[in-house]
Amino acid sequence: METSSNFLLVIILIIFSYGSSDSQRKRPLVIAHRGASGERPEHTAIAYELAIEQGADFIECDICLTKDLIPFCSHDCSLNASTDISVRNNLKDRVSFHDMDLGEPEFTNSSDYYSIDFTWDELDDVLVKQNRLDRDQSFNFQNTLCSFEKFLDIAKKSKVGVYPELKYPVWQKDKLSQVFKEKNTTYEKLIIDLLVKKGFDAKSKKVYLQTFDKETAKILDKQTDIPVIFLAWRNFNLSTVEDCAKFVQGVGLWKNLIFEWGGFKNGTANSTGIVKRAHELNLKVHVYTFRIETKHVPFIFGNDVRREYDAFLKENIDGYFTDYPLSLASHLDYRFQAQCPNSMSNGGYKLSSINNISLPLALVLLVINKIC
Ligand SMILES: *[C@@H]1O[C@H](CO)[C@@H](O)[C@H](O)[C@H]1NC(C)=O
Ligand SMILES: *[C@@H]1O[C@H](CO)[C@@H](O)[C@H](O)[C@H]1NC(C)=O
Ligand SMILES: *[C@@H]1O[C@H](CO)[C@@H](O)[C@H](O)[C@H]1NC(C)=O
Repeated sequence: METSSNFLLVIILIIFSYGSSDSQRKRPLVIAHRGASGERPEHTAIAYELAIEQGADFIECDICLTKDLIPFCSHDCSLNASTDISVRNNLKDRVSFHDMDLGEPEFTNSSDYYSIDFTWDELDDVLVKQNRLDRDQSFNFQNTLCSFEKFLDIAKKSKVGVYPELKYPVWQKDKLSQVFKEKNTTYEKLIIDLLVKKGFDAKSKKVYLQTFDKETAKILDKQTDIPVIFLAWRNFNLSTVEDCAKFVQGVGLWKNLIFEWGGFKNGTANSTGIVKRAHELNLKVHVYTFRIETKHVPFIFGNDVRREYDAFLKENIDGYFTDYPLSLASHLDYRFQAQCPNSMSNGGYKLSSINNISLPLALVLLVINKIC
């Protein structure tokens, strides 16, 4: 008995020291961009649930608001392209025109169905479709829009983190200013309050807030200890990243800002040094968006997304936004030697699936499970 417990102690010590020596390179986060949006209509409950099953650490929700200030998850606050709203008799005439080009990278300037013109009661049974024609259409019109509250409940149940983006903040704040006033709240406060109410406060370490708008980022930073990530697309470089260190805790960077590109079919993966600089400034760096379809993988990586993941891993980024969480999570499992298998929870080492093991082995497995 004495010897076997000493033996056990040695094994446990080896496992612990092994674990800490690897900590110089931390496993980056798998952030499911709009859920497992490569495989399911984006921002739906099934897209989030699949992402969680596939090993996502965080799930992402772009927030649009209704005119009664109910937040829900949708990449666009114009709903025609992603829903069946135009064939609903009670809603199909509610088209309006908006110019959303307020300095944000993605904007709409057209006639459409805008969420700010509807109550949540009107939208909560609108059905969502896959709006990229080269992706699976077989889940179309089976799922409703997902409210922000439901999204938080899904994450909470599975203990994954949440990564909400305040979408079109300049435009939504402007259009809804009267309602915000009546309800004595602001866009930022509304979202922070809901997060805190559901247990996603700074202490939980299960939440990041993101926005492309600098003023909104500054307001968020003043109002909460939840880490704020400033999103950057074009026109971002080493000096703008220095500016960010004054008001946010991290940056969410377009992947083409990390390397100098000669385009998707040509180029060299020369680092721009931006990740290193951001880290010197104590900023987290999360990079978007990783997609496994050939057209999204620069040819310089031989059209192999695993080589693309590795290039960014070498840059020491802190997280990847991906439409395909399983592909990324399993590659990270592989690179980090499945020390703590993460993806496909039932594919990892689960004590319950092992029968007839000896007590010492069971304890060692228990310790591994604990570290993980
Ligand atoms: C909505 O989309 C449909 C195609 O799905 C199109 O026929 C219709 O013109 C669009 N309506 C608006 C207001 O953009
Ligand atoms: C409005 O909200 C602020 C805090 O955000 C609070 O101090 C104030 O009392 C509220 N006013 C009313 C009329 O409820
Ligand atoms: C490849 O990219 C470089 C810039 O990085 C450019 O000078 C060159 O013309 C490009 N070649 C082709 C064939 O596009």
